[in-house]
Amino acid sequence: MKTSYDVLIVGTGIAGLSAALALPKSLSVLIVSKDYAWECNTFYAQGGVAVAKDDNDIPVHINDTLDAGAGHCNLEAVKVLCSEGPLAIQRLINMGFNFDKDEHGNLLYTKEAAHSTNRILHAGGDATGRYIHLFLMQQLPFPILYNTQVTDLLIDEGICYGARVFHNDKIFNLYAKKVIIASGGVGSLYEYHTNARTISADMQGICLSHGIPLADMEMMQFHPTAFVLGNSVRKQLLSESLRGEGAMVVDEDGKRFVFDYDSRGELAPRDVVSRAIFKHKQQTNKEVYLDLSAFSKEHFKQRFPSIYFNMTNIGYNVPEQKIPISPAFHYSMGGIKTDLHGRVHTIKNIYAVGECAHTGVHGANRLASNSLLEGLVFSARVAEEITKSIFEPHVQNLFPETEEVLIRENDKTLKNELRHLMWNYAGIIREKQTLQTAFNRVKEILGLPIGKLLRLRLLVSQEIITSALKRKTSLGAHYIKEEVTL
Ligand code: SIN
Repeated sequence: MKTSYDVLIVGTGIAGLSAALALPKSLSVLIVSKDYAWECNTFYAQGGVAVAKDDNDIPVHINDTLDAGAGHCNLEAVKVLCSEGPLAIQRLINMGFNFDKDEHGNLLYTKEAAHSTNRILHAGGDATGRYIHLFLMQQLPFPILYNTQVTDLLIDEGICYGARVFHNDKIFNLYAKKVIIASGGVGSLYEYHTNARTISADMQGICLSHGIPLADMEMMQFHPTAFVLGNSVRKQLLSESLRGEGAMVVDEDGKRFVFDYDSRGELAPRDVVSRAIFKHKQQTNKEVYLDLSAFSKEHFKQRFPSIYFNMTNIGYNVPEQKIPISPAFHYSMGGIKTDLHGRVHTIKNIYAVGECAHTGVHGANRLASNSLLEGLVFSARVAEEITKSIFEPHVQNLFPETEEVLIRENDKTLKNELRHLMWNYAGIIREKQTLQTAFNRVKEILGLPIGKLLRLRLLVSQEIITSALKRKTSLGAHYIKEEVTL
């Protein structure tokens, strides 16, 4: 097998695939996928892609993004996202992608929380991510190496030369002039999450082990409406667009209690709705439901076919029957620190894009459906940047093919303990004391004989906890009970 490439891309979500598609076809590019290519967060994205509908909507989209981000966004990144978004969507449409349209051929836009207008494009009803993923895969001119776990980056004196991988029971090196990390977020660190099972913070952990900075790691987003009963690792998402189109959050007495927390009710930003549900459950001990009675059966089946299919399969008679809900971990606003072209400044030849990256575009709380757009917009910028510099002279540096113990016998038990710890102590509502308890236990586990993959998860968990401890007042998705000072 060839082991040297121009570009190595880690991850097969929207960011990785779009970056690949934007690179010149003359380059040798390899994409590595930890599992099946579709085991990524893009595949499971339901709601859609947010995009300004016309030039007048660009400043409004910018404002909505800044507002949801609680004043913590990087304004330049937000301007890039919202002003380059329409072009990125047009490119996708020009390639032949079909968003849902009305009977006259006009694009259909839906609304989601904290958007001041309907600007969310969707496809296949509520299967936007799956449709986009399949479409991008069909266009791909480069090979994918499946079932490939990246175990390290090949870095020497501030320069990256590729990655070490585990594939077919062997560890070996893949060399590349440029490495794009597009590996997604950190979902599997939490007990309840909506993410693909592959999303476990490995690349963020590898970055930390090389001293590559992560930023805003306390900013973890919890989606308000997930169906968390049942044993599946990935919890069933109930798209924000349900609420955008009339679904209500009620308790077992039928009370729409979110209005007690915010005058925008169910359409407040998702950190607000998540906390309202979490607190209401804690304070009243009552079950909370998503009430779908605003929809007729016919319309629901046609507009939300995946949710209809999934919930019916589990045994719920939707939309007639209310669905019990809970917030669940959904998205990491924090990530590998990059500039607006995906460059990781501390190490040459590494780029990061999509959920694993931090440009500051989402601030303290991501606006709904901005992430697929981020994947499209910033991957084009990364590809442009790489195309400019790929033909510069490049010296290959050889690295030993070190065998590493990736998994040890007790890791699974400790991994589950970590998930529990993160959910309870570094989750929706944080406290200094319990964060400290979590920190101590993470440190203790790091001292045990454990495999490398668990070590990487622990490093990222430690970073989340430390960042949460450092931010002493609540902001956006980071909610910390204030200390009482006497
Ligand atoms: C959803 O459909 O609610 C998810 C949208 C998003 O995470 O942006």
